[in-house]
Amino acid sequence: MAIRRAVAPGSFDPITLGHLDVIERASKIFDEVIVAVLINSTKAGLFSIEERIDLITRSVSHLKNVRVDSWSGLLADYCEDHEIAAIVKGLRAVSDFDYELQMSQMNLKLKGIETFFMATKPDYSFLSSSLVKEISKYGGDVGSWVPSHVHLALQSRFGK
Ligand code: PNS
Repeated sequence: MAIRRAVAPGSFDPITLGHLDVIERASKIFDEVIVAVLINSTKAGLFSIEERIDLITRSVSHLKNVRVDSWSGLLADYCEDHEIAAIVKGLRAVSDFDYELQMSQMNLKLKGIETFFMATKPDYSFLSSSLVKEISKYGGDVGSWVPSHVHLALQSRFGK
């Protein structure tokens, strides 16, 4: 039987507990989950791609069927190259839906890749990497929303 392999794509700048929840739940459904950091050359991140990969790798070390990768280009091409039939995305609120629907339909059209949406846990429905960075930048405590090593990395980046 073919391996059911899925990709959980994103910027992950940095990974949050919301991302991790979706990755953990996806790892129970698919045989293998690849967390792919998509490189956007027009958008400078807080963390480098290598740092993001390291933070994700440490966050998923307890999940034996999850690995981490990065990709510069179309997600649909990554899926085709790596024999991935499914994309997994978390949906936090209706506001996520329009854009996610558009991308999922485009990825289906481009390469026949299916997208599975997973409802985010209500505890994390307000959470985003952007808000975590902003709160951390101004000295707010984001310890409830990111893994502890990510919290430390944020504090160190903002000189706290
Ligand atoms: O965490 P994000 O920033 O919401 O993730 C968005 C991401 C990286 C998954 C999306 O922008 C993407 O797939 N980028 C890769 C380039 C691509 O394939 N664009 C066309 C999408 S139909």
